[in-house]
Amino acid sequence: MRIILFTGKGGVGKTTTAAATALHAAKQGYKTLVISTDPAHSLSDALDIELNPEPTPISDNLWGQEFDAYYSMKKHWASMRQMMLTIFKWRGVDNVVAEELSVLPGMEEASAFLWIEKYYREDDYDLIVIDSAPTGETLTLLTLPQVTKSWLTKAFPGQKFAVKSVGKLVRKTTGVPLDKGYEELESLFDKLQHIQEVMLNPEVCSIRIVANPERMVIQEAKRAYTYLQLYGYNVDAVVVNRILPKAAGGKLFKKYLTSQAKYLEEIEETFTPLPIFKVEHLGHEVFGLDLLDKIGDTIYGDEDPTTIFHDKSPFQVEEDGDFYTIKIRLPFIDEDDFEVNKFGDEIVIDLQGQRKSVILPRFANFLTFDSHTFEYPWLSVKLKK
Ligand SMILES: Nc1ncnc2c1ncn2[C@@H]1O[C@H](COP(=O)(O)OP(=O)(O)OP(=O)(O)O)[C@@H](O)[C@H]1O
Ligand SMILES: [Mg+2]
Repeated sequence: MRIILFTGKGGVGKTTTAAATALHAAKQGYKTLVISTDPAHSLSDALDIELNPEPTPISDNLWGQEFDAYYSMKKHWASMRQMMLTIFKWRGVDNVVAEELSVLPGMEEASAFLWIEKYYREDDYDLIVIDSAPTGETLTLLTLPQVTKSWLTKAFPGQKFAVKSVGKLVRKTTGVPLDKGYEELESLFDKLQHIQEVMLNPEVCSIRIVANPERMVIQEAKRAYTYLQLYGYNVDAVVVNRILPKAAGGKLFKKYLTSQAKYLEEIEETFTPLPIFKVEHLGHEVFGLDLLDKIGDTIYGDEDPTTIFHDKSPFQVEEDGDFYTIKIRLPFIDEDDFEVNKFGDEIVIDLQGQRKSVILPRFANFLTFDSHTFEYPWLSVKLKK
């Protein structure tokens, strides 16, 4: 099974490209499920078909699903929900608020990933396409389920042992399944850890970054790229969406077109050698299968959307005593004839008129540039702590 996840800043076209990719793959014969992990669902709108919390058939080989955390909790995690409700009420939280809180922060996405874990185990689909929430929130849960588990379990009264033994007593006397709830909570994190492992496998999961030729969108795309790499996820392509066609020029958009050209260049410089798929602004909103089909054709043409378009890590970070070495892959360079500079959390490489920039993890902001060496294809930049 393959999993393709689309991420990017709010409003760039994640839902549109996810739906278009799913439709294109389904047409090529893959049994495909497109799902949305974003609580603010708009997949139904994009497909122009009403979806629900279970897979809904859309067309040949294609299903869609919009998760609902309450629905998932009730279906799969009833004891846990009841446990949370009891704990919140016991701590004096109002009934309605307790009901809301029983869906913990992040639970909406967590429940989506639990479904994906189930589909992966059951191996019922060839492809799952994930339309996710805007960048920041997307992989928080998947990044470190272990950490989330530790703080979440800490939030409960008493130690694990106490919850289990007292829980049993509570269940016997009050009927509230405190111990079962705790077990469910633990199993939830085990499953999240499993799906994290699955999604870290480049043969299964590809992440595609969606961007527009705009300054803030590109900054966020660069940052997402860095962090996804840092956590070990395989980003295999970039989709630049809503490119204004030259014909749309005129006086009003002349400036926009000029800056767009600059930003397109910056995208190339940043993400090459990843394939960069380009989609023009259609001049109107995109919804319904016909328009999505058009977008899918533009992105993939005759190519198979399930292809792993790239699987080489673009950079690595190594720690060595007082230094960090950032290794950046520069496959197109064969000699050390460039200049390297560090500005805050960004490394800028000037290659005879060409420029490449790499955003570093935030901690690198406070490191000082020491030196650089080049051994094909790796540029190693040494930073002092
Ligand atoms: N190539 C395009 N041409 C014209 N309109 C587009 C194109 N791609 C997307 N849109 C429109 O842009 C809007 C935002 O797209 P979409 O919902 O796919 O973005 P998103 O990244 O999923 O947003 P959110 O972060 O809110 O989930 C929608 O109204 C969509 O129809
Ligand atoms: Mg969306």
